Amino acid sequence: MAKVLFLNGSPHAKGCTATAFDEMISVLHGEGLETEVVQVGSRAVRGCVACNSCSKTGKCVFDDDPINETAAKFEAADGLVIGSPVYYSSPNGTLLSFLDRLFYSTAFSKHMKVGAAVVSCRRGGNSSSFDVLNKYFSISGMPIATSTYWNMIHGFTAEDARKDSEGLQTMRNLARNMAFLIRAIAAQGALPQVERGAFTSFCDGK
Ligand SMILES: Cc1cc2nc3c(=O)[nH]c(=O)nc-3n(C[C@H](O)[C@H](O)[C@H](O)COP(=O)(O)O)c2cc1C
Repeated sequence: MAKVLFLNGSPHAKGCTATAFDEMISVLHGEGLETEVVQVGSRAVRGCVACNSCSKTGKCVFDDDPINETAAKFEAADGLVIGSPVYYSSPNGTLLSFLDRLFYSTAFSKHMKVGAAVVSCRRGGNSSSFDVLNKYFSISGMPIATSTYWNMIHGFTAEDARKDSEGLQTMRNLARNMAFLIRAIAAQGALPQVERGAFTSFCDGK
């Protein structure tokens, strides 16, 4: 059975971001997909220290937070949803530290795993936060599921978010499109070829 992993960057396990996730999860279950939520935002997550030991070991050097165990779940998943509350017009710092280390430390292919970003703010900053989160997918060969609006919900509390009927509708449509994409990719069998090797930083190639 296809599986979608959700990473909630909020410290509130039942807050606005979780309300958006719940709307998606009930659609995904109705479509026959499995889901799992990892609660990231309440954990102490340090930033990447660029030691590059992961390039030799394929895992993060720090084992005191759920990065390495989440990596195994990510590898097994067909889709990844990353959700964040907006802090000063950006995704929150805990989630960004988590995602930097999760994506940088893992050598497994993320190619054609379907991604979706979900953001939640009281009033402003959803669009800029949404753009930041989508960058993790678009550098990883991950097709991005879309909806009838950018994937955002508004509220200060979960009760507010439950009143955002357009936000909730956006989440339901997003989940349907995500399930469709996951099935369509699985039906292909083989994935497109990926070229690797070129790694240039300057125009003369050095
Ligand atoms: C440190 C901090 C910074 C915030 N910055 C913003 C902001 O820039 N714009 C905004 O609309 N809401 C801001 N908020 C409010 C949250 O983004 C908003 O309440 C969000 O929906 C909470 O989601 P959650 O319940 O999933 O944590 C901020 C909240 C905190 C704690």
